[in-house]
Amino acid sequence: MADIWHDLKAHAAVREGRSMLSLFDDAGRAARFSRRAGDMLFDFSKTQLDEAGLALLLELARRAEVEARRDAMFAGAKINETEGRAVLHTALRAEAGPILVDGQDVMPGVLATRARMAEFARQVRAGEIAGAGGAYTDVVNIGIGGSDLGPAMATLALAPWQDGPRVHYVSNVDGAHIHDTLQGIDPTTTLVIVASKTFSTIETMTNADTARGWMAQTVADPAAQFAALSSAVDLTTAYGIDPARVFGFEDWVGGRYSLWGPIGLGVMLAVGPARFGEFLDGARAMDEHFRTAPLSDNLPVLLALVGIWHAQVQGHATRAVLPYDQRLSRLPAYLQQLEMESNGKRVAMDGGDLSVPSGPVVWGEPGTNGQHAFYQLIHQGTRVVPCEFIVAAKGHEPDLAHHHRLLVANCLAQSEALMRGRSLEEARALMAAKGLEGAELDRQARHRVFPGNRPSTTLIYPQLTPYVLGQIIALYEHRVFVEGVILGINSFDQWGVELGKELAKSLEPVLSGASDGAGKDGSTLALVAFAQAR
Ligand code: F6P
Repeated sequence: MADIWHDLKAHAAVREGRSMLSLFDDAGRAARFSRRAGDMLFDFSKTQLDEAGLALLLELARRAEVEARRDAMFAGAKINETEGRAVLHTALRAEAGPILVDGQDVMPGVLATRARMAEFARQVRAGEIAGAGGAYTDVVNIGIGGSDLGPAMATLALAPWQDGPRVHYVSNVDGAHIHDTLQGIDPTTTLVIVASKTFSTIETMTNADTARGWMAQTVADPAAQFAALSSAVDLTTAYGIDPARVFGFEDWVGGRYSLWGPIGLGVMLAVGPARFGEFLDGARAMDEHFRTAPLSDNLPVLLALVGIWHAQVQGHATRAVLPYDQRLSRLPAYLQQLEMESNGKRVAMDGGDLSVPSGPVVWGEPGTNGQHAFYQLIHQGTRVVPCEFIVAAKGHEPDLAHHHRLLVANCLAQSEALMRGRSLEEARALMAAKGLEGAELDRQARHRVFPGNRPSTTLIYPQLTPYVLGQIIALYEHRVFVEGVILGINSFDQWGVELGKELAKSLEPVLSGASDGAGKDGSTLALVAFAQAR
């Protein structure tokens, strides 16, 4: 692999600074540097990639044995080697098996749980399962990380289909979060879902206890209004939740990949089992594409290769995810966990150091809001931030079609502006037209130069439907997988979150005064003293 990385870097170095816009002198570029999966289009033509660069990247994918690793993942092999686990979130959206883990077909269990969830959701939505005060009007999903970000993002994304109870998401251990969420909702018509793969995450269990106390003030049997989503079914029973309202999943589902099964219950309650089924259909269609399309036409592979080109080959440390879709406003936060918890690692699968930088910092906000906040830096800062635009051709508000036209125009204008830039001559002409001259013209013009040549990709789809949302999320999941395989890391563990958790446990008694904090550093002790004094 070292030779290909070397060739790629040499290839990129030679092309650095060449005009991206001039690549479009070739009229076929847009078509050759874009691909479709179903009816979504991924355009990566506004990058410095050319045929030879793409060929090298595809060779990198071949040498990393992406196809064999992919097949191993779908087949239930224990590719999460540091935890000895299979990685089968794809089974959660599969229709049929067999899919074997340790010789056992997991599909009967998956389908049975999906059917139980659907029946539970139907009964809750129909008011057949109700709270002490009647049909559930509100659902409070308590979870964090993968037990929150996915369903919270998807519930918001599918707002046009919301015809069930209101679903709220509480994640932060900051009491403000649960306090503000519970204010104004009626405990007698509220269902609390405790979503935690391990059922031991301190933030979630603290919030669950608080919710139970809140409910106990008005409801005689609060446990009857609790449901649980977890792999640790024994712990849910110990917590007093009726097994009929516990939806379990296996350890071969990673937290940040768990949206498709029980962790998606909040989404299913909001939009109903049928729409949730369409969401799974979309993801399954992307799975099929990922499994069968040749590498050079494979959307997740190409999204990964463009990511690697920008992060590991060109050395850009961050990438911005910019959905021009207000209902995808939680997508960047969701992708931060998916990408950074998966590929933010410095040790390779074989225990050695990574030979190239780990996955990039992922960040973003919906357009057009971002344009009025941080796009300044993206256009004129000294750092290059590769941008990933995401946009629907059509909105959901027929009366507001002019809004949507403006939205799409802004999205396309940004990728055009990033590539095209504005030269000093153009800036000077603008200033001259405003009547400036001499030294003042020179000074003002320089501030108005856009270097351009800044890379972006655009993912465009017809409309944000449950099916399309499923396609998009599965696309990104597989992209993360491909990047991980090429970087040689295990994308499915997350040891990097452990140390902070352990230290928080040891600091809590210092803050309460139960421990003197012996062994803690001076900075930490001074901060503790400040907090204690107030
Ligand atoms: O932050 C670490 C982590 O383990 C995530 O991977 C996970 O999604 C989150 O905590 C929540 O874990 P659980 O679902 O077990 O409460």
